[in-house]
Amino acid sequence: MYNFTLQIPTRIHFGKGTIENLAELKNYGKKVLMVYGGGSIKKNGIYDSAVEILKANGMEMFELSGVEPNPRIQTVRAGAEICKKEGIDMVLAIGGGSTIDCSKVIAAAAKYDGDPWDLVINPTKITAALPIFDILTLSATGSEMDAIAVISDLTKNEKWGTSSPHMAPTMSILNPEYTYSVSKRQTSAGTADMMSHTMENYFSMENADCQKYMAEGLLRTMIKNGPIALEDPENYDARANLMWAATHAINGIVRNGCSPKWCIHPIEHELSAFYDITHGEGLAILTPAWMEHVLSEETLPMFVDFAKNVWGLSGDDDWKLAQAGIDELKKFFFETMGIPANLRAVGINDDKNFEIMAEKAEKGCIGAFVDLKKEDIIEIFKAAF
Ligand code: NZQ
Ligand code: ZN
Repeated sequence: MYNFTLQIPTRIHFGKGTIENLAELKNYGKKVLMVYGGGSIKKNGIYDSAVEILKANGMEMFELSGVEPNPRIQTVRAGAEICKKEGIDMVLAIGGGSTIDCSKVIAAAAKYDGDPWDLVINPTKITAALPIFDILTLSATGSEMDAIAVISDLTKNEKWGTSSPHMAPTMSILNPEYTYSVSKRQTSAGTADMMSHTMENYFSMENADCQKYMAEGLLRTMIKNGPIALEDPENYDARANLMWAATHAINGIVRNGCSPKWCIHPIEHELSAFYDITHGEGLAILTPAWMEHVLSEETLPMFVDFAKNVWGLSGDDDWKLAQAGIDELKKFFFETMGIPANLRAVGINDDKNFEIMAEKAEKGCIGAFVDLKKEDIIEIFKAAF
């Protein structure tokens, strides 16, 4: 196990009725910028509940709506401008990962004199941020308890993650009931995303039993509860287990001490940057193709453990067992969860950008547990096509 320092500063209020804790915001000032997406929070009533509590606590509210899935830098700029002009004290994100990520960079940009894009491509420029609060409405990214934000500039086909301790949320409200209205498609994509976070870590955990067994537990939680939430969207326990598992997949507890660089994520971010696809769907399509590409004599023991401990398979032939584990994952993503099974199914109909996307992704993959060169990434794209 490698050395690490772990500090998770986010206060979590988990469960039914926890929105009442929004009252805490009054301890951080008066002016709050509420940030949200395309309107789901107005349909499901979360917006009204939040406004009522903020009003009752004497908060002055400003709004930025319309945050896009795969949030754009242009929206971050608009939010930062409101913060500076109005002297905003704090940012409250209500939504999924896109809204929370957008809010994080708005909060950092409010304390920065240049263009917010600088903070996306160079995290060392993030030296302060307004306090960030969120009400999570979609279980997937783990943005509610990490210090990461992923922002796109689709005019340049760029999508990059940035990270700073200043962007860790101060407090997050996690009420599983708020995810009842998430569509089947987003429930599946979210489950794939949280599984990907866990698997990106898992395949590099040879000497970290503690993290490895926790990761196996998280994966089993997701595999059990994803299909239940899909069939029965208002099943509280399924939504609760997914929500808490997603948070743990990326908050540092299973990642620290073992993980080299993630590599499926940098590859997927190129797909989103060029084709604006749903992040979790891209990950589901790429992951089995990546697994088959990196399965080797050296990595075989990890894939055998994956087959046995995550999927409950058994057998004497390690190679067959490893492949059976990968096949189970494909079946889960593409049959049980109904995720599109290849790049064509999400609208990527030719290979014209494979080379440029692979070239850009290669940089993000340096230090991954199996080294991937541009040619390897092109092979993975072809296998996923
Ligand atoms: O915009 P609204 O109307 O709210 O609709 C959203 C959106 O259309 C909808 N939705 C969210 N909650 C809902 C709901 N619909 C009904 N009921 C609810 N309760 O779902 C759609 C997708 O929302 P989005 O926030 O885009 O999804 P997600 O949470 O999957 O976030 C994806 C973004 O996060 C980034 C991804 O790259 C992508 O940009 N990531 C962030 C990470 C992080 N901060 O640590 C790590 C991840 O690996 C990921 O890269
Ligand atoms: Zn992800």
